[in-house]
Amino acid sequence: MVKAIRLHKAGGPKVLRFEEIEIGAPGPGEVRLRQGAIGLNFVDTYLRDGTGAYGDTGAANPLAYPAILGLEGAGVVEAVGPGVDAVALGDRVAYAALPFGAYAEQRVMPADVLVKLPSGVSEQIGAAVMLKGLTAEYLLRRCHPIKPGDTILIHAAAGGCGLLMGQWAAHIGATVIGTVSSPEKAALARSHGYHHVIDYSREDFVARVRELTKGTGVSVVYDSVGRTTFTRSLDCLARRGVMVLFGQASGPVDPVPLSALTDRGSLFLTRPGLLDYVATRAELVTAANALFDLIVRGILRVEIGQTFALKDAADAHIALEARRTYGSTLLIP
Ligand SMILES: NC(=O)c1ccc[n+]([C@@H]2O[C@H](COP(=O)([O-])OP(=O)(O)OC[C@H]3O[C@@H](n4cnc5c(N)ncnc54)[C@H](OP(=O)(O)O)[C@@H]3O)[C@@H](O)[C@H]2O)c1
Repeated sequence: MVKAIRLHKAGGPKVLRFEEIEIGAPGPGEVRLRQGAIGLNFVDTYLRDGTGAYGDTGAANPLAYPAILGLEGAGVVEAVGPGVDAVALGDRVAYAALPFGAYAEQRVMPADVLVKLPSGVSEQIGAAVMLKGLTAEYLLRRCHPIKPGDTILIHAAAGGCGLLMGQWAAHIGATVIGTVSSPEKAALARSHGYHHVIDYSREDFVARVRELTKGTGVSVVYDSVGRTTFTRSLDCLARRGVMVLFGQASGPVDPVPLSALTDRGSLFLTRPGLLDYVATRAELVTAANALFDLIVRGILRVEIGQTFALKDAADAHIALEARRTYGSTLLIP
């Protein structure tokens, strides 16, 4: 038996219960992982309260109850089923992948979604960076590849994804503008690659972006806040700019007429998800190598803002939804 956080129905943080479960032995293509750390992600809150994987009330709830949340973790391979060649007994590994089930001391899972951690990268760093760092990789390099000299806008700059994206975008050579909701978060964003930081809880971020870009606007907005920022993010874009809506921490975006894109200068709009950008083993390994390379070279600093014991996962959800966290949040078994 191992301990895990399970939920028996959708709801607020109180539905997260610390329970004993049986996990069994790994089958063909599977391993049993003893987890050193588990990554908390905003998507876990959408799934917990039943609004679906994309925080959209129209989406189907993908969970079957009793369910275990979690898409990100790192640990040591403790048992290997038949036909596994991606990893071996004793390997230190990390993942950002389906199936759900990371909120557990140990889990049985498919081996082909695991990547080995380089020496010098701890399990805590691995769990803090796999999902958020792979997200930064595909957003900045493949969904809309940014170039040196671009000026770009990233919302929630001091969040888990935000601190990684600022550093990576600055490393590529972009001028990076970020938004945050407090002076403390602004200072943190500035120390993680952001050249300009706007407190969108006090300032009009559209006016400030126009001022910073001398009226031109930015070439791309990476918007993970959603409802409260979406339309004004469109207003920040330069002609033929790209709107990348990749989350909705403030709630789902209301339907928008396509004319909203023409009216603002022939804009492009995409709503991407990580799993479509690491859909094959080759894509996953290439993206993870790029991520770990920057970490090992000291170009990306992984900020673990706070850790919670696994049994206190509900408190972690409360803090994340209340905007009290910064950087990555870990659950420690
Ligand atoms: N599509 C994908 O592939 C993908 C992958 C990973 C993550 N995501 C999305 O990226 C976003 C960031 O994820 P994360 O795990 O790194 O979380 P996070 O950024 O650490 O936390 C969310 C942040 O959003 C901001 N926010 C603005 N309005 C909010 C509101 N009403 N309620 C709560 N937060 C609000 C807060 O920062 P301020 O206080 O500074 O405003 C908060 O800290 C999420 O929307 C997530 O769903 C998408």
